[in-house]
Amino acid sequence: MPVGRYDRIAALAALDAHEGPEPIQVAELGAGHGRTVRALLAGAAEAGVPIRVHAIDTGSCLDDDVLHDERVRSLIVPEDQPLPFRDATLDRVISLNVLEHLPHPAGHLLECHRVLRPGGLLVLAHSDWDTVLFASEDDALTRLLIDRFVNDVPDGVRNADGFMGRKLLGLADASPLEVISVGAWADVHLRFDEDSVAWKVAMGVLAATRDDPRLAAAAAGWVEGLRRLARQGRFLFTVTDVALVLRRPVPVDA
Ligand SMILES: C[S@@+](CC[C@H](N)C(=O)[O-])C[C@H]1O[C@@H](n2cnc3c(N)ncnc32)[C@H](O)[C@@H]1O
Repeated sequence: MPVGRYDRIAALAALDAHEGPEPIQVAELGAGHGRTVRALLAGAAEAGVPIRVHAIDTGSCLDDDVLHDERVRSLIVPEDQPLPFRDATLDRVISLNVLEHLPHPAGHLLECHRVLRPGGLLVLAHSDWDTVLFASEDDALTRLLIDRFVNDVPDGVRNADGFMGRKLLGLADASPLEVISVGAWADVHLRFDEDSVAWKVAMGVLAATRDDPRLAAAAAGWVEGLRRLARQGRFLFTVTDVALVLRRPVPVDA
């Protein structure tokens, strides 16, 4: 059973249901460093399924091993453009932690519907940042800081929505896609070094206090407390990820 976020997403894509010698055509929207792409490649190899992954983003930051994999096609797209695929040409679309940055999340689902073949699947997943849990030495301060964090739009980003995870089902219900499954899990991290997910979130928390010098000072002390807990082996961070599997309906006369 997959336990990490990216392996879970790859498992939801049900690559093993693909039949025939042609590669399954999979697009990841907002592929970032390519962690999901890597999990998809591993999942396809395990299932013995040939795969082509179209890794789409507005900038290039795929890790080298993914970028140079011959099964991967990296596509850099301008923001707010239609997806670079013809209608009904993809078997799977993956969208993880992208929706909150888009000005029109409902339009994103319509585009996914357009490019999927009838019967094709969209794995739509998003962290719900309001559910962030930090084991800390001051729970009231943690709550205050997380409230600031989820209501902040970071520099360099047009949109952010700390409550997006819980909104996925409403968006899916209003779309032409069928809901196949709804799931959620806690993404758990025990590390608090500078490469860790929890560290990145804590830096987002600090940034969200930038207009409030007193709170910023308290937040800096809070981060020191997290480092102390980590040194003592008592650090814990989780965030709830919500993941839906949606299908483009097959016409009844097909
Ligand atoms: C939070 S990261 C998530 C990356 C990856 N899906 C993951 O979960 O590791 C959001 C990604 O979406 C990309 N992005 C933002 N707006 C986009 C757009 N309009 N079209 C495609 N990608 C976009 C960003 O460049 C960034 O790589």
